[in-house]
Amino acid sequence: MEELVRIAALRERVSGWRRQNLKVALVPTMGNLHDGHIRLVRQARDAADRVIVSIFVNPLQFGPKEDFSAYPRTPEEDRRLLALAKADLLFQPEVEEIYPGGYQHSTIVDVPELSGVLCGAFRPGHFAGVATVVAKLFNIVQSDIAIFGEKDFQQLLIIRRMVTDLCIPVEVHGMATTRDADGLALSSRNRYLSAEERQVAPRLFAALEAARQEIESGATQFERIEQSGMQNLVEAGFRPDYFSIRQAHDLQPVQDPQAEIRILAAARLGRARLIDNVKVARRLA
Ligand code: PAJ
Repeated sequence: MEELVRIAALRERVSGWRRQNLKVALVPTMGNLHDGHIRLVRQARDAADRVIVSIFVNPLQFGPKEDFSAYPRTPEEDRRLLALAKADLLFQPEVEEIYPGGYQHSTIVDVPELSGVLCGAFRPGHFAGVATVVAKLFNIVQSDIAIFGEKDFQQLLIIRRMVTDLCIPVEVHGMATTRDADGLALSSRNRYLSAEERQVAPRLFAALEAARQEIESGATQFERIEQSGMQNLVEAGFRPDYFSIRQAHDLQPVQDPQAEIRILAAARLGRARLIDNVKVARRLA
């Protein structure tokens, strides 16, 4: 696996591949890779001839009180896992390469309609930071395909919308969430959990599943289900930010009876902030 840190070198490599008519896929990450990331890489392998994985802990998407400096960085292990998964190229730029004028002064990409709700309401500026860095990565790499996880469902929607609004010529693929055997969605931030908290953590997915089953069995009192989801989390020891039943296409409260439904939740547990979501099977009505 080749490793590059400079934009110019990466562009040269990708244009060589393009001249040979090879299809290129990009998997953007912040490193500290786990099986969820590796499945995205495998999916990329299936969908394209060349796979580029970027590792960049993006300062612009962390709030001033968030964990940018503490974010787990495991470059040796990441390299090993990516070589095993047969990625062709690891792009690992420095912050100065991506933000030569300083990230505080960068031009910003904002997707206003989707960025203010759910996680966006609790992490002001976060999704503008994500959209900006992903737009930059798309412009740098110019891959045919880019792959993202549904674990970060709001992020995936924001990236799709950005690509449409800015006419970026990339095909965005979404991948189902990879979970541990007990249901906990894999996440780099699971590292922050103590052994005791790790026992409690799967109850986030369990609460989402309970709400999903209730709705699939015909319940329609969404506010009550949201409240009992919040209560469930509090009783398990979480400090929940939200537990919300939303239309999957725009993350608004459910108004259209035909709309596909997602249940999304975010909750703090010890030092970790965990997020997860589940899809509700289409209603027949
Ligand atoms: P990161 O949290 O490293 O995630 C990188 C990609 O892996 C994202 O598309 C995320 O949705 C996906 N992912 C993480 N955990 C997953 C799981 N358990 N199952 C399936 N997919 C999973 O998300 C980011 O980085 C950043 O915001 C980024 C998009 C790279 C921009 O900086």
